[in-house]
Formats: sequence, C-alpha cells, structure tokens
Amino acid sequence: MSASFAQELQLLDQQFQLHPQHLAGSGEPALVLVRGEGSRLWDATGRVYYDGVSALWNVIVGYGRPELAEAAADQIRLLPFANNYAGTTNEPAVRLAARLAQLAPDPLNHVFFTAGGGEANETAMKLARFYWSIRGKTSKHTIISREGAYHGTGFGSMAATGLPSYWEHFGPLAPGFRHVPAFSVQALERCITEEGPDSIAAFIAEPVQGVAGVYPPPPDYFPRVRALCDRYDVLLIADEVITGFGRTGRYWGVQQWGVVPDLLVFAKGVTSGYLPLGGVIASDAIKQEIDSAPAGTRFMHAYTYSGHPVCCAVGLRNLEIIEREGLVECAAQGGIALKTVLESLRELPQVRAVRGLGMMWGVELTTPQLAERAYGQMRDDGLIARFRAANLILAPPLSTSTGELSEMINIFVAAVRAVAGATSICSER
Ligand SMILES: Cc1ncc(COP(=O)(O)O)c(C=O)c1O
Repeated sequence: MSASFAQELQLLDQQFQLHPQHLAGSGEPALVLVRGEGSRLWDATGRVYYDGVSALWNVIVGYGRPELAEAAADQIRLLPFANNYAGTTNEPAVRLAARLAQLAPDPLNHVFFTAGGGEANETAMKLARFYWSIRGKTSKHTIISREGAYHGTGFGSMAATGLPSYWEHFGPLAPGFRHVPAFSVQALERCITEEGPDSIAAFIAEPVQGVAGVYPPPPDYFPRVRALCDRYDVLLIADEVITGFGRTGRYWGVQQWGVVPDLLVFAKGVTSGYLPLGGVIASDAIKQEIDSAPAGTRFMHAYTYSGHPVCCAVGLRNLEIIEREGLVECAAQGGIALKTVLESLRELPQVRAVRGLGMMWGVELTTPQLAERAYGQMRDDGLIARFRAANLILAPPLSTSTGELSEMINIFVAAVRAVAGATSICSER
C-alpha cells in the first residue's frame, strides 16, 4: 500500500469507470478503499477511517466476517447459480424465504427475491398493479409516493422517488405516479379522493426517509396512513431497504408504530452488502389473490438473479449473525447514545435540526456549504460520513462497539462545532 499504488488506481478509475452519480467537472481523485474490519476501512495509502454510514447504509454487521466468506465459498462450490423462475428452486432461496416470512410481521409470508432495492420496489409496485388487475380492478394502477422519498433509479422507482434531482435529464417520468407531502395524512387522503380511489393501486413510503436526510415521521403518521389505505382499498408498500434488519432499533421500521404493510420491500442489510440481494415480502391476501387467477396466468416479471443461491446463503448466515449478536438491541442502545450527544448540537445557531431513530441520524445545518465543509473535516479526522444538501448523515454498522461509536460521535460533533465556529467537545475534555 502506498501513494503510488493509490494514484495508479485513481488514474485508471478516471479513465475507465463511469460511476453511479458521476459528477461532471470534478477532477477529485476517488477514495480507493482496499480493506475493512469491523467498523473501520483502510484506503490504498494505508489511512484508516471509521465507516460512519455502513458504506451505503448496508454493512450492518461490519466488515471482515469470515463466516460470510465461508457461506459464499461453500455455496459456490456446491451450486453457484440456479434458475429460480417458476418451476425451479434452490435450498438457500427456500430457506431464506422461510426465515424472512418468520421475521416479518404476519401476514407477510411470501418472498419474491431481486438483486437490490430498486428492483425490489419495481417488483412491489408491479405486484400491486397485478393484484388489482387479477381482482378485475384494472383501472387501479396509480402509485402514490412522498416528496423527499428515495426508492431507486429504474423508470418506476425513479418516478416514485420524490427528489427532483433524480429526474433531471431523463425526460418525462413514467405516467401513473403522484407525490404528496411527506407527513400529511390529509394531503394523502386528498390525493386519493381527487384521483379517485378506483385509480389508486398503492401508496409507497420509507418508514424513515433516509437518503433525503433522515426524516422519521410523527408517531401517529403510519397508523393513520394504514387506516386510510384500508378505507380506500389502497395497498401499503413499506420500503424497508434502509430501515429493515434493525437499523431503527426494531427489526422492521414499521414495527416502531405497530403497522403492517401489504408489501414489505427489503435489500441492503439482508446480506450486509456482502453480496447483492433484495426482495419483497407479500401478504397472504396478495398471494391468495394471485393464486386465484385463471390457471396459466403468469406474473410476467422476472430477474435472472432472483433467488441467487450464493446471495441467499450469505443472507441466511448474515441473519444468524444479527440474531446471535443481538444487533437490533445494539441499534436501539446505540441510538440512545447518538440521540443524547447529537441533540446537544441543537444549541448551535448553524444547526437547523437533529433527527433520527436507532442507528440513523441526520443533522441539518443552515447551508449545504457548511455541511460539505463539516463532511470534509470529518474525513480528515478519520470518519466517513455522508452529506446531502445541508444534511450530515451518521448511520454506523449496528455491530459498532460502544467505544468506537463514541469515537465516531466525537469526530462528528467536533467537526460540526468546528465549522460552526464553536469549540470542539474534544478540546473541551
Ligand atoms: C429506501 C431505499 N429504497 C430503495 C433504494 C435503492 O436500492 P438499490 O440501490 O439497491 O437499488 C435505496 C438505496 O439507497 C433506498 O435507500
């Protein structure tokens, strides 16, 4: 590991990769990561960082888990791939589906696997339309989502996404999508009644909006949304791509408010990012309706990598780790520490809001420039966080030790205080 090794990779990267969220005009060389262990990452020059955002919110059991490597290697030796289209199956996919059905609240019991979160949302929205079509309600196809939502970048999931920066330069959005303000049950009801309930297939929402900057809802929001969806015959899709597998301090985000969706979308944490996997868990009612279709009716929706045996084997082992190490409880405990210290930042005039739940927190500053500076300062001090607009985001692996978590929080808080022109809490100690 050396500066020249890093430079070689950075130059090749600029020459040959086109990255997700490619940024024109940025000559900035990429951070080249070469190793991870627990909650820490090493770059190609040998520098070490805390991973304050679990990579892309997904590495929830941390890095360097030999048993996940073994689960993958064992399965690759045995059967590296299998067709999972109707009529064929494989053991890891079956066992993982059964385990997820156990973990999801009843009556969510039927799993369709994908390779990631965006595909899983496409699947959930198509399942909703398919369900209504089978029921003979062919006009029920509009999907309502929320402003600030992030559901992925495919044509359906992009249209459901409520962040306009994801729409620019891609022409017209797919038809059949509506957006409502994020926390207004009234606005949702108005949208349903104005459009006509006979045209609405589903309402999709993240339990806690993550990408937008971590926005937990008011406690009565989801129970009221559930009641509204029932009243108007609208399916409720919970996008648990970030919030699933313990991130909020409960196994599923919706369990914070005792709500059960009709379709639950998962990805990221299911394998802790060690391999790509996602999916949708559908209710008994949806499965029964689909099964009641005239014989020969197919749900013509498919991915080559649906139910990939290696990804599912790693998923199963990852869920065992979450359970064995009590990581959901760890997230709840870690959340208390994060809340206590981060909320102290509210006293700064440059801090507009502090929001979060469990191990996902957002600190909103007064300007995006301040947030970017604080992000840079954190990175210089050995913490990789994330910023979006004026929001700084902290979402460490759920397996982070108490000591490491407080070190991460200290770096985060010190950087915010530094850019706010206030004294760092580290130097106060
Ligand atoms: C809530 C939510 N849904 C969907 C997605 C898209 O997942 P993927 O990038 O695996 O397609 C993300 C990604 O961050 C997400 O946060």
